[in-house]
Amino acid sequence: MKIAQAFVLLVAASLIGVSQAKTVVVGGNEKWRSGFNYTEWAFQNNPFYINDKLVFKYDPPSESSPAVDLFWLPDLYSYMTCDFSRAKLLADPTQGSGEGFTVALNQWRPYYFASGQGNSVYCKNGMKFFAVPWPQWFI
Ligand SMILES: *[C@@H]1O[C@H](CO)[C@@H](O)[C@H](O)[C@H]1NC(C)=O
Repeated sequence: MKIAQAFVLLVAASLIGVSQAKTVVVGGNEKWRSGFNYTEWAFQNNPFYINDKLVFKYDPPSESSPAVDLFWLPDLYSYMTCDFSRAKLLADPTQGSGEGFTVALNQWRPYYFASGQGNSVYCKNGMKFFAVPWPQWFI
């Protein structure tokens, strides 16, 4: 009986979790740009849950908007040092226009995001953040 009750609670919690999955525009009105420090933004938008979606919006390169892009860094150390040698390109400078580029946080692991443009100086100046989505039953 106790196990059955626990199971019902777990299922209920995960259903609530599913209905709470959110879609967030990274940086809010600032969108995804160089010169903005995303650490604070990420902190304010925590917690993230599995299946939440992050939308990266940025204009294609032009005279008034320098190119930015979106990389996945493989671990905390490359994140801290803005080392892109093992990074994976998620979205090139043209892929953030219009509706933006959406990343679903569908695994329970840290996601390290950064822009690799500007010779990693954008990253070093704060154009990076990480998110660890919680499983939905963890509410
Ligand atoms: C970004 O903000 C965080 C938190 O306030 C701070 O620790 C960090 O040094 C800032 N990064 C830069 C490059 O200013």
